[in-house]
Amino acid sequence: MTTATLAFIGGGNMASSLIGGLIQDGYDPAHLIVSEPDGEKRRFLAERYGICALAENEEAQRRAEVVLLCVKPQVAKSVCRALGQASPKPAPLTISIMAGIRERDLQHWLDDARPLVRAMPNTPAMIQAGAIVLHASPEVTPDQRNLAETILRAGGLTRWVPEEGLLDVATAVSGSGPAYFFLLMEALEKAAVALGLDEENARLLSIQTALGAARMAVESEGSPETLRAQVTSPGGTTEQALEVFQAGGFEPLVLQAVQAAHRRSQELSQLLGEDA
Ligand SMILES: NC(=O)c1ccc[n+]([C@@H]2O[C@H](COP(=O)([O-])OP(=O)(O)OC[C@H]3O[C@@H](n4cnc5c(N)ncnc54)[C@H](OP(=O)(O)O)[C@@H]3O)[C@@H](O)[C@H]2O)c1
Repeated sequence: MTTATLAFIGGGNMASSLIGGLIQDGYDPAHLIVSEPDGEKRRFLAERYGICALAENEEAQRRAEVVLLCVKPQVAKSVCRALGQASPKPAPLTISIMAGIRERDLQHWLDDARPLVRAMPNTPAMIQAGAIVLHASPEVTPDQRNLAETILRAGGLTRWVPEEGLLDVATAVSGSGPAYFFLLMEALEKAAVALGLDEENARLLSIQTALGAARMAVESEGSPETLRAQVTSPGGTTEQALEVFQAGGFEPLVLQAVQAAHRRSQELSQLLGEDA
């Protein structure tokens, strides 16, 4: 594991989860800094993780080799402008996990062509089971790419995309994706209750089935398509259910839903950016 000093700008849910994941993976807390305006949160983070918690973002940046932007997108501009004005030369590798804030806006606000990685995590990153999609600006060296990946692996699976625009696709697939699976769990639970199962059993069976299917998909050599075929006996119950899904337009509906999320992600990037 690397020993680079990391500064988390904003000590909220995501930063706290990444810090927890890094320490669990063996990262030395002495190399972790967080800057956060809320004194209560600073005390909590310092006590819980044994890390340095500062009130000043610029001071955190000054002490670090890697800066992680973990504030809400709404404050991105003011935070980045202040960091840019106080930037050491050369500027540190900067990783933004802020949804929808584009590289060109970040570079513009930070006022330097710094090595920049944009990361799109999802909520399961909070339990180290996330899917985190990454894009690197041209200034990022191969070593810095490896460093960014090592850091973000604390949140789960990491995958690179070659074009920044594909982060909007990732937002629609893995960013919003947990909600799609929760919706299916909810619907399965309601169907079970409608058929006479009590609510507790309905919920537990629905959730455990989702977990089991996901684990099989992760651990098996076969694709989800192969696994589905394996549990679909001709003339059996699963085949009947899957025929109803297909007849109801399940796949085109999923495509339309993901397309709608993709369009919204592009719109939000524009709204949050300089050309808003
Ligand atoms: N949560 C997710 O699943 C998820 C998924 C993908 C991407 N993201 C991205 O991750 C980022 C963080 O999300 P989150 O859920 O961790 O949000 P959060 O819990 O609200 O964390 C943001 C933190 O930044 C602090 N902050 C506010 N103004 C600041 C400033 N000027 N300087 C330094 N810190 C400041 C906030 O403190 P106060 O509360 O005191 O204002 C808060 O502790 C967001 O940009 C979001 O788009 C999150």
